[in-house]
Amino acid sequence: MKNTMTMIDNRTGKSYEFDIQDATRGPSVVNISSFYAQTGMFTYDNGFTSTASCKSKITFIDGEKGELRYRGIKIEDLAPKRSYLETCYLLLNDRLPDEQELLKFDLELRHRSLLHENLKNIFATFPTGAHPMAALSAATAALSTFYYSHLDISDENGYQEMARRIIAKMPTLAAFAYRHSIGAPFIQPDIDRSYTENFLYMMRAYPGGKMHHGINGERKIKAIEIKALDTIFTLHADHEQNASTTTVRGVASTGAHPYVAISAGISALWGRAHGGANESVIKQLEMIGSVENVDKYIAKAKDPNDEFRLMGFGHRVYKNFDPRAKILKNLQDQLKDELNLDSNLMNIANKIEEIALADEYFISRKLYPNIDFYSGVILTALDIEKSMFTPIFVIGRTVGWITQWMEFKKDKEKKIARPRQLYLGK
Ligand code: SDX
Repeated sequence: MKNTMTMIDNRTGKSYEFDIQDATRGPSVVNISSFYAQTGMFTYDNGFTSTASCKSKITFIDGEKGELRYRGIKIEDLAPKRSYLETCYLLLNDRLPDEQELLKFDLELRHRSLLHENLKNIFATFPTGAHPMAALSAATAALSTFYYSHLDISDENGYQEMARRIIAKMPTLAAFAYRHSIGAPFIQPDIDRSYTENFLYMMRAYPGGKMHHGINGERKIKAIEIKALDTIFTLHADHEQNASTTTVRGVASTGAHPYVAISAGISALWGRAHGGANESVIKQLEMIGSVENVDKYIAKAKDPNDEFRLMGFGHRVYKNFDPRAKILKNLQDQLKDELNLDSNLMNIANKIEEIALADEYFISRKLYPNIDFYSGVILTALDIEKSMFTPIFVIGRTVGWITQWMEFKKDKEKKIARPRQLYLGK
């Protein structure tokens, strides 16, 4: 049996043959790169629902089974069992680190967490109240100006250093974007703190490094808060060729600096159809306001004439539960007492889920809660402002973007991204 697919143009009776390549997991692909040369026609796939844009060994999703793997390891074996830094190392190096490697990786990220003093000035150009996502995208692009000379990378060490640097600096950039947006002074990274704790410290501390004094004295960062946020970072680390990763690869394909590619990825992620959904979910739960109003909004979500959509529901790939959502839901249930989660928001979310999962409209369209549906309630309990929810997604996803960038750069078949079109003009 030939490993090919034959297509027949019924208008001419002509047949065309294309090679099939099997995957190690998931669907095979039909290689249609010669389609135009053979047929004189283009293929059309709005939103790339059936199109593989690249070959990759990083992340695998089985949307039917609700399975997610980073470098072959199931997400349930990483979050919350492993630290986010272990997951970063796994994505970058295709294996988990041993104790010494993890220590060395951790220390290097701590030392690289500082920003060049000049870079801080970029935040001063933004008005108070500027959305941190806009500031973060701009500051990340600006970061490239401090590392131009590193661009002529020719070896693995160069790629890995470019990757470790941006992973280390993203929490500092995000925390500075937030602090500026509220008119607060920057808190420099404290290299005695772990990656995730340091981010909470830079977000919360007062000048001089004191944590704010609640009525019970200095409110230290709790281990449970660090663990919850570290798990959230891990769950967001990578996710195949989603819209923002496709954007990163597209910019990478022109040979631009990796940090402007990641800046473009941050911009793409901001949309509420993508990473911006986590902020929209909480705004939507607050707008719904009470369990009694849920039915009204479910009806709006189902109404084809109503633009309203249930934020945090549906996914291009998952046609079953998003495994990340399941882990977050379990985390939410564990934390509800320890972190004093907002029970009203949780009750509204649970009611939406209960009704939607039993409703034909959602069942027939295979619309399940996605990662964004649950993350916001936990982040709210960590005293994190809604406008920082998507920047937190950025921190988690930076390792995925830079790993995908590295894979693209090392791909011997890489080409500039340049799709064609179906022209309907005059
Ligand atoms: C992320 O791609 C990734 O991997 C992304 C991500 C990652 O880690 O990178 O997982 C992160 O972006 C998660 C998704 C976050 N976005 C949201 O929660 C926003 C709400 N959801 C949607 O807008 C939508 O479900 C998408 C964008 C997520 C998926 O859109 P698709 O695959 O293009 O599906 P579609 O818009 O074609 O919808 C199919 C049908 C339509 O109904 P019909 O036209 O068939 O009648 O389902 C309906 C849609 O109207 N539908 C919804 C809905 N989502 C889809 N109806 C109500 N509420 C919703 N949320």
